[in-house]
Amino acid sequence: LTADEEAGWFVSQKEQPWWQWLLRRFIASGPIPRHVAFVMDGNRRFAKNKNLGSVIKGHEKGFVQLAKILDWCSRFGIREITVYAFSIENFKRSEDEVGGLMRLAEEKFQKLLNDSEKLDEKRICFRFYGNRTLLSARLQKLMSDIEGRTEKFEGGRLNVCMPYTSRDEISRSFETIRTHVKEGKLNVEDINESMIDACLDSGCGGTPPDLFIRTSGEHRLSDFMMWQAADTHVYFDSVLWPEFGYYNLCKAILNYQYYRSTVSKMSSLNVSEETTWKMNFRGNDRDLISVKS
Ligand code: FPP
Ligand code: MG
Repeated sequence: LTADEEAGWFVSQKEQPWWQWLLRRFIASGPIPRHVAFVMDGNRRFAKNKNLGSVIKGHEKGFVQLAKILDWCSRFGIREITVYAFSIENFKRSEDEVGGLMRLAEEKFQKLLNDSEKLDEKRICFRFYGNRTLLSARLQKLMSDIEGRTEKFEGGRLNVCMPYTSRDEISRSFETIRTHVKEGKLNVEDINESMIDACLDSGCGGTPPDLFIRTSGEHRLSDFMMWQAADTHVYFDSVLWPEFGYYNLCKAILNYQYYRSTVSKMSSLNVSEETTWKMNFRGNDRDLISVKS
């Protein structure tokens, strides 16, 4: 196996170079985003530019970069990360590429479960957002095993979106509501913003992103976190995802700090005196509960 194929989720705990440490200390004197969402775009162009031979090699490089970025983000004290790993639209790509991405996910998810020691050390809670019924039984099992293994961890949170689009997430949230109504568990009059929020994939304790980063020079949201990103600072970088380095991350955070200081935060959901809803997750069961009436 090559080094890229072997790569895991947690990079080795090497000393951070002094210039990275210094830059971090400087930036950390300002507000640090609590939650950052990444659209990891540009893997195939990277593979082509570097003559890697196949697009999957580009996605492998993308995964290696993801692991580095997760480490940097945790050093910055960023508590939650959401990554767009596979869009429902990506099923339209060639059979080879879709199959290769699914294999890559299986390998990396299995690797994560095998790395028991690191899981207990880092204590990151993993969550998967998206329509899992579109995936193989093997992948679905790996995902629920990872969620079960890490659900009590509070050292940070990583949401992996696969296979995901916002419109699908919002539609599924309405399906959940419809089921609750049909089963007589709630009244149609009770449906409000808070309930839709609770029924999204992020309803299981996720927060809205403070900073949204897309690489590769594309200025599109691509149906990602459309509900949750209502008040999110959006940052675009022209580098391809496998080239998004420490310096690029610092620039994005500085840009966030600059704009945060010039705008005031939007009011949170439920300004009116409506009922607030929370979702209780028990395995595959979901139960809506009203918090305040
Ligand atoms: C977009 O680049 C990237 C993807 C569709 C896949 C992203 C996946 C990874 C970075 C690997 C993560 C893996 C796991 C297991 C979480 P693109 O294919 O659109 O590249 P292009 O814009 O240059 O065509
Ligand atoms: Mg792309």
